[in-house]
Amino acid sequence: MEFDYLALGSGIAGLTFAINAAPHGSVAILTKKQRSESNTNYAQGGIAAAIGSDDSWELHLQDTLNAGAGLCDREAVEVLVKNGPRLVQWLIELGAQFDRNPDGSLALGREGGHSRNRIIHAADHTGYEIERTLLIAARKTPHITILEHYQALDLILEDGVCTGVQVLDTLTGDVFEIRAKAVLLATGGCGQVYLHTSNPLIATGDGIGMAWRAGAVIANMEFIQFHPTTLYHTDAPSFLISEAVRGEGGILRRIDGYRFMPDYDPRAELAPRDIVARAIDAELKKTGDPHVYLDITHLDAEFIKRRFPTIYQTCLQYGIDITREPIPVVPAAHYTCGGVWTDLDGRTTIPRLYACGEVAYTGVHGANRLASNSLLEALVFAERAALHATTRLEEPPPQPKPSCITIALPPVTPAPQVADHAYNWDASRLQIRKVMQKKVGIVRTTQRLQEARCELESLTAQVEAAYRALPPTVESCEVRNLAACALLITHSALARKESRGLHYVLDYPNTRPELATCPTLAYPA
Ligand code: FAD
Ligand code: SIN
Repeated sequence: MEFDYLALGSGIAGLTFAINAAPHGSVAILTKKQRSESNTNYAQGGIAAAIGSDDSWELHLQDTLNAGAGLCDREAVEVLVKNGPRLVQWLIELGAQFDRNPDGSLALGREGGHSRNRIIHAADHTGYEIERTLLIAARKTPHITILEHYQALDLILEDGVCTGVQVLDTLTGDVFEIRAKAVLLATGGCGQVYLHTSNPLIATGDGIGMAWRAGAVIANMEFIQFHPTTLYHTDAPSFLISEAVRGEGGILRRIDGYRFMPDYDPRAELAPRDIVARAIDAELKKTGDPHVYLDITHLDAEFIKRRFPTIYQTCLQYGIDITREPIPVVPAAHYTCGGVWTDLDGRTTIPRLYACGEVAYTGVHGANRLASNSLLEALVFAERAALHATTRLEEPPPQPKPSCITIALPPVTPAPQVADHAYNWDASRLQIRKVMQKKVGIVRTTQRLQEARCELESLTAQVEAAYRALPPTVESCEVRNLAACALLITHSALARKESRGLHYVLDYPNTRPELATCPTLAYPA
């Protein structure tokens, strides 16, 4: 198969790129499950844009830089916040239905780290509404083909130029190639690398793994965002309790009822996520309790049901009526702030390979992403990538500015002996997730990181050997990419000898000002 443009992933980034590229040629969107299955589809709180009468792009910029703890690329953030209002309007023109005030203006919610109400939302299922809108728009746009149940395995490079991908048909097991003039990675993040995560099963870091094996530069992988509040329930997989709940006045309490957040930050429950997640972690360690509570019982019950219908219904399924009782919550891995390094046009260091959305590192999020900035980042940079790919494809690829934190990782060497006909992929997946949860979590130490690196190196070598020995499957491809992401996170965490934003290491508790402009860049050795 051959197309002009090939987008890997059907979330907000892949769909936005495709809709913008389609007027210039044929576009295929490859997606490993059914088309709507993506992190985008589960986004709850909303999309940030400075549209309020008391707001401005400058304020949105400042809040983003503050949350990013000195490590954001200011130019990238400017591009983000200046384009926000226009692209939200684009979604509305495509048909997105966001909540409105009685006077018809957009209802704006509040989330942690924002100094103004600027979160545009559709109740607590904003991602579903955006995904629905973009899928309809893609269906109506000529020249777009969506290929479901096709899993990208590896990028094809000829003379160092990306010319396509190797693909697995997940229904038949066939492996084949798709060629294109330009390839976009829009495969999302790697939340599944942790045992406890808000992310759906698709989030296995495939794009980061593929780009890494192809020799692209990967940046800032140590900055994994843990969302402070996911439902704690023995029968429930980690289900997100949106930050918007705190935005509407939700209060965090210990099991004994004590409200602890004011002890940690004057912004209390609305401090940026790294601060709230670490505070909960500290309280849990101090008390030995399995969870804390998020309490919104003081709000009007009808308002809660209308504003948070998904959260209300889901909690009810688990026997918790959130209008009458507090919600047991714990932090869980939520967002990959780093990823495949790109310039402001979504270009990676490999010619004709682009990356947008959660798979990419644009410099926007720095050491900690501001809530509801990721849907916006995907929109803004996917539009720019499409513009570049359709008009300036021939330009030589960019390179990152030199940084004072760089790592050079040799390619994975397969372990010498492997089972010749079978391999327990599930066991390896679980092992990776357990190691990451235990040793590369919210609070890190050099010793635990070194232990994790050792375990992950040996596991990765076994996984690579088994992958090469056996026909590719959904499982083998995902476990291989999870292993790559786990190693990249751990190596990057070891390289950053300071605490900043989401990266908190007990041995280096202070932020080192001289590292403020230094992203962690991982190069292939
Ligand atoms: P995704 O939406 O994750 O899409 C990735 C796509 O790639 C999927 O279609 C997947 O199937 C496909 N794919 C992956 N690997 C392969 C492969 N090997 N081959 C083919 N296809 C592949 N952000 C906000 O800004 N506001 C919010 O309110 C918000 N709430 C969130 C709530 C939850 C529960 C979660 C998990 C995240 C939330 N986020 C939120 C983050 C945000 O949803 C994501 O960062 C964003 O949707 C990522 O979009 P994307 O297009 O980059 O990737
Ligand atoms: C949430 O609704 O809390 C998620 C928002 C985000 O991840 O930006």
